[in-house]
Amino acid sequence: MKLEKLNAIVTGGASGLGGAVVQALVKAGLQVSALDLPGKEREEAVKAMGAAFIGVDVTDRQQIKQALSNLVESWGSLHVAVNCAGVAMAIKTLQGGQASDLNIFEKVIQVNLSGTYNVCQCAAEVMAKNEPNENGERGLLVMTSSIAAFEGQKGQTAYAASKGGIRSLVLPMARDLADLGIRVMGIAPGVFDTPMMASLPDAAKEMLIKTLPFPKRLGKPEEFAAMIKHMIENPMLNGSVVRLDGALRLN
Ligand SMILES: NC(=O)c1ccc[n+]([C@@H]2O[C@H](COP(=O)([O-])OP(=O)(O)OC[C@H]3O[C@@H](n4cnc5c(N)ncnc54)[C@H](O)[C@@H]3O)[C@@H](O)[C@H]2O)c1
Repeated sequence: MKLEKLNAIVTGGASGLGGAVVQALVKAGLQVSALDLPGKEREEAVKAMGAAFIGVDVTDRQQIKQALSNLVESWGSLHVAVNCAGVAMAIKTLQGGQASDLNIFEKVIQVNLSGTYNVCQCAAEVMAKNEPNENGERGLLVMTSSIAAFEGQKGQTAYAASKGGIRSLVLPMARDLADLGIRVMGIAPGVFDTPMMASLPDAAKEMLIKTLPFPKRLGKPEEFAAMIKHMIENPMLNGSVVRLDGALRLN
């Protein structure tokens, strides 16, 4: 799809990778709305990026349906949905010999996996009503997995399971939506310089950077955004998860 004149939503668009996608798409001439948890700071950050802000929880079916229906009423159509909303909570399988808190596992799965699925389903529902472009395309859904989907580390059972779930969603959803001309892609980032990554202790960050083959640095959010732009433009990208990780393999 040509970038100009497209309408896009970005979940988690107030911060980090999502924020970089919002900025890149606005710069490329798309109409963009960032869907993120309600909050004045987040709203102001998004407005400063030149996009609209919608305060919602990605896990809430009604909120997402309403937000998309309002958007389509004002925009006429939705072509791109980029899912960046996510949480990272570390917890080991056992803590002090006891099964650790199941609520944490369920929360991470709910936000990262069910939230992504919810937004993709609701976005596909409205994209299905688009007039196809000259190549038969109606839209693109992008989900953010992680290299933890492939090599989850200690304390990452919940996060890795949620991101592994996203990795496994991409192909069957692409097959489900192929007849409609809606493509589905995933990105599995390595380590990127965002507020989520900033929460890691410096020693852990330095250790990760040391093990990076090349480039030996954290990824820049704009490098993630550049991949999203390419996914929009290249119709052959469908049904796969692209690792964007400088050859990093976690152990
Ligand atoms: N930063 C990295 O190195 C890295 C690596 C691999 C994967 N990821 C994934 O990329 C995505 C973005 O991460 P980031 O580093 O930019 O993190 P971030 O914390 O900067 O941004 C996450 C955003 O998601 C929003 N969010 C959280 N729960 C939400 C909910 N229920 N509803 C709506 N919005 C919600 C937050 O408010 C925040 O704005 C996440 O899914 C993360 O797991 C990040």
